[in-house]
Amino acid sequence: MKVSVQLDFLPVTPDLAPAVHNLYLSCPTYIALIGGEIPSLNDIERELETLRHDTRRQAVLLRQGEQVVGFLDYKVAHPDLHSATISLLLIEESLQGKGLGKAAVERLEALLRGRMERLYAVVYGHNEQAKRFWERVGFEHLRDSGPNLSWYLKSLR
Ligand code: ACO
Repeated sequence: MKVSVQLDFLPVTPDLAPAVHNLYLSCPTYIALIGGEIPSLNDIERELETLRHDTRRQAVLLRQGEQVVGFLDYKVAHPDLHSATISLLLIEESLQGKGLGKAAVERLEALLRGRMERLYAVVYGHNEQAKRFWERVGFEHLRDSGPNLSWYLKSLR
């Protein structure tokens, strides 16, 4: 059932690594799709530490009230100064299909509008579900970079 969704973006700091790890553990279908390797807590801690040094990269936990429902990783001023790029939107598997992904994209668009002109989404692997999702939320397929990488684009003007 679709619900009206209010999401908060909580910037991810290294101490939130266990919450991000739990989210990956709760998404076995996606993990299988991208090759079956669940990142370890240690991998995530190291990734979040790296991320702290890249001021353009933004990773946020998606919260509905007190509940963590997803994760969003994007980069502003990338690949050019007027664009932002989403590298991962992950909604907890049991909560998918309820409007949370769409609400996250809408919230991000609202945050970026006026600062960025374009929003890209980069889909890795043979992820047909994700491709349909990006089209459904108003993105156009731009190009494939090789067999495993598809770029989607939405204007923010
Ligand atoms: N097939 C067709 N349409 C779909 C599908 C699908 N598999 N999934 C969602 N949609 C449509 C919905 O019907 C809805 O359309 P509507 O508003 O007209 O009814 C719209 O997309 C929004 O659906 P949501 O319920 O908001 O989607 P959800 O919360 O499940 O989020 C997401 C979509 C992010 C793909 C989620 O399912 C997920 O986390 N999947 C696993 C991880 C993943 O593949 N993430 C994307 C990787 S690519 C990247 O992040 C750049």
